[in-house]
Amino acid sequence: MKKNIVLIGFMGSGKTQVGRELAKELDCPFLDTDSLIEERCRQKITAIFADKGESFFRDIESQIIDEVTAKDGQVISCGGGAILRNENVNYLKTGGILIYLKAPFEVLYDRIKASSDRPLLHTAEPEQSARALWEARQSVYERVADLTVDTAQKTITKTVKEIKQLVEV
Ligand code: S3P
Repeated sequence: MKKNIVLIGFMGSGKTQVGRELAKELDCPFLDTDSLIEERCRQKITAIFADKGESFFRDIESQIIDEVTAKDGQVISCGGGAILRNENVNYLKTGGILIYLKAPFEVLYDRIKASSDRPLLHTAEPEQSARALWEARQSVYERVADLTVDTAQKTITKTVKEIKQLVEV
């Protein structure tokens, strides 16, 4: 039985891009929880947050994680907050290996600051909001991860190669 490879980490850590390329390399299905939530709700993440609120979003996120983890042999990229609920972590860890894509705050913020599709940053002080979230979550990512990959100075391809080596041993 092949395990799921689950990519976790803060916004901007490259989970979706790395996941897509990794799945291609490993010739297995790729699932992105944010995309699945958008398909299920027929709305963009920002619209879901605006119309129904974060807790509605988190409930759908948990439901999707429960569903996707029923299968194995997939690469799953999770939204940055997916690990905040223990039940999600438990589902993801069952038959899955959790890989934390790690990078310093400055690198992450640089990657996300120009995009408007992250509702948690729609605040008066987006950088401060992002930093507060990052500081609060770092220890959670570290704690739940089975493996950590530093992505700060790496291309997507290099990160994919590194993960492939780690999971194929
Ligand atoms: C979130 C991260 C986003 C998305 C939502 C909430 C978070 O995903 O799930 O905006 O709580 O960190 P990405 O990490 O893919 O940006």
